Amino acid sequence: MLKGKNIVVGITGGISAYKSAEIVSRLKKKGANVYCVMTQNAQEFISPLTLRTLSNNPVVTSMFEEPGTWEVEHISLADKADLFLIAPATANIIGKVAHGIADDFLSTTLMATRGKVLFAPAMNIHMYENKIVQENITRLKARGYDFIDPVIGNLACGYTGKGKMAEPEAIVARVCQELLEEQILAGHKILITAGPTKEKIDPVRYLTNHSSGKMGYALAEVAARKGAQVTLISGPTNLKCSPQVNLIKIESALDMFQAVQENLDQNEIVIMAAAVADYRPKIFSEKKIKKKDEDLKIVLERNPDILKYIGENKKDKILVGFAAETNDLKENATKKIIQKNLDFIVANDITQAGAGFAVDTNQVTLFFADGSYKALPLMDKYEVANKILTEVYALLKEKRSERND
Ligand code: PMT
Repeated sequence: MLKGKNIVVGITGGISAYKSAEIVSRLKKKGANVYCVMTQNAQEFISPLTLRTLSNNPVVTSMFEEPGTWEVEHISLADKADLFLIAPATANIIGKVAHGIADDFLSTTLMATRGKVLFAPAMNIHMYENKIVQENITRLKARGYDFIDPVIGNLACGYTGKGKMAEPEAIVARVCQELLEEQILAGHKILITAGPTKEKIDPVRYLTNHSSGKMGYALAEVAARKGAQVTLISGPTNLKCSPQVNLIKIESALDMFQAVQENLDQNEIVIMAAAVADYRPKIFSEKKIKKKDEDLKIVLERNPDILKYIGENKKDKILVGFAAETNDLKENATKKIIQKNLDFIVANDITQAGAGFAVDTNQVTLFFADGSYKALPLMDKYEVANKILTEVYALLKEKRSERND
């Protein structure tokens, strides 16, 4: 099932390190090539010999050891990895990667890895709940690293709570899911927009909004995993995307409009998740505007409605819009379907906790052109992206069968 897949398993120092033996064994049984990297502390809990025997490969235990029969230079392992799993992941390795610290073989290799990285944390409940650890996890998620959440159970420290590493079976199932994502969008080109736009007032000031880009980047990542050729037009964000995504960075709504126009013809699916400013300052002041005693009035002029433009030039494309609403979700969202000639719209009520701007989760309702709708529960933005792209796939299939009729 995982034949030909290269999986690097990083093992750090926690009592659940003994479970990494079972993880390695299960991955091997599924046909993967498994390479283990152990921190010094991990070796206090499980012997390299166990992992070497199970993986049938040399185990890296130190930055400066002699290479064995294969190249162990960290860059070569980083390049080799289709997926990098850290199980168990201590607060220490999470903190190191979150802050760019590369001081041993594992952290150095992780820093050089461009492929998928999955952390399976295991630690004392209070450590796991510590705001610093949680901030580090959030920081890593924002940069595309993924996590297999720990589960509730009896912890080695005597406490009962969330902190126990997920069971090997669940971890291996997740690895399979990541590596075997059905290539339902293979051969399809998709254009996605993400993030806010910046509308300059003068050299130091601008108008913008709260979009972090997370929703659009999640769509781009999941679409790429499903085999699509992805172009992502992004406003200013702190996010990174996988190298296989063609990233076009822009600042203003006018920049986004131009980039969309340049890329529209080549793409058969368009998803507008960006929060585009409807207005920009009519006049950009070349010099910093000086404060005066009286009020300052800035005249704003309309930006182009990019989604409407795409709808008017849609041809045979699948077009998906987003609607960020504070009230009358259904009414406002369904109006946009007609006005902008959409196949469906993803409506989020941004007043709801855990939905909309900047958070990792979203709660959306998909309204379709035929009047039907699907209300989804609160879920991770990657899950939301998965649902949206599954609907896109269904539409592609419909179109294909219509063409054959
Ligand atoms: O980036 P995150 O922090 O993850 O937040 C996600 C999100 C809240 C930004 C996202 O889920 C979302 O709702 N994006 C659309 C935000 C928005 O601008 O909604 P709107 O209702 O104002 O616009 C409707 C649609 O028209 C959107 O698809 C928008 O991209 C598009 N639009 C808007 C204005 C404009 N001038 N041109 C456009 O194309």
